[in-house]
Amino acid sequence: MKVMIGVFDSGSGGLSVLKELIRLMPEQEYVYYSDSAHCPYGEKTQDYIIDRARVITRLLMEKGAQIIVVACNTATAAAIATLRQEFDIPFIGMEPAVKPAALGTKSGVIGVLATAGTLKASKYLKTKGNFEDGCRIVEHVGKDFVELVERGVLEGPEAEATVRESLYPLLDEGADIVVLGCTHYPFLLPVMEREAARWASAAPGRIAEVRFIDPAPAVARQTRRVMEDSGLLPASAPAGDSSPSVQLLCSGSPDTLKTLFKLAIS
Ligand code: DGL
Repeated sequence: MKVMIGVFDSGSGGLSVLKELIRLMPEQEYVYYSDSAHCPYGEKTQDYIIDRARVITRLLMEKGAQIIVVACNTATAAAIATLRQEFDIPFIGMEPAVKPAALGTKSGVIGVLATAGTLKASKYLKTKGNFEDGCRIVEHVGKDFVELVERGVLEGPEAEATVRESLYPLLDEGADIVVLGCTHYPFLLPVMEREAARWASAAPGRIAEVRFIDPAPAVARQTRRVMEDSGLLPASAPAGDSSPSVQLLCSGSPDTLKTLFKLAIS
C-alpha cells in the first residue's frame, strides 16, 4: 500500500526536501504545494502564515495526504504547533541544524542563514539557547535568496553578489560551518561553496574549508520514522517500484516550480 505524503512550502524551496524524501522512499506518492502567490513568508506575520498553512493543509488532505511535511522553516516555526492541534494527521517540520553544526565546528563559531521569521521564532531561539555554551552562533538573513530562487536565478553575477552580501559577514566572524535554515537556500549551494572558497583565498590565514549543512536528509529519515511509528508504514517495509508519483500544485505561476522540480529530482 502506498502512502500519500503531502509536502508544502511558500514556494519551490521545499523541493530540496521533496528530493530527499523521494531518494529515501521512491515507492511512495507525493503531492507538493508551492504557495508562490504568497511567497515569501519570511517577513509575514505569524497569523498570516498560520492561515495559509491551514488552507494548504486542508487542500493536501482533500488530495489524500496522510502525513504532511512542512518543508519550510518559516512556516514550521510559525504554524506547526497550530496544525498539530487542529488536524488529526502527523506533521513533520524543519528546524535549522544547529546541533550537528555545534558538534562539528572546529573554529567554535557556527553561522546560521535563515529568514527573519525563523531567526526570531521562539522555536529557533530555544534550540540556539541549548548550544550557545559550547560555541558562538552568528546569524544572517539570506537577503533576497528566496526571491532569487523563485525567479530561477541560481547562477551568475547577480546570484554571486546576493550570496556574498549575506554569507561573508558569517565567514568574517569565523564560522567554519554554515547551517542552511531555509529550504530555498540549498538551490544556491554551488554559488555559496564557490563564494566561500573565494573569500578564503582573498587573504592569508582564513578558514580554508567551510561546510554547509542542509537538514533535508535528516528530515526525510524522520518522516520515515514517524510513518512507521504511526502505522502508516510497516517497520522496515521493502522499497516497492522506484518510480515516484508526484503531483505538483501551485497558487501562482507554475513555471519556476516545474523548472526547479526537473533540476532537483532528475
Ligand atoms: N523555504 C522557506 C523557509 O524554509 C522560505 C521562506 C520564505 O518564503 O521567506 O523558510
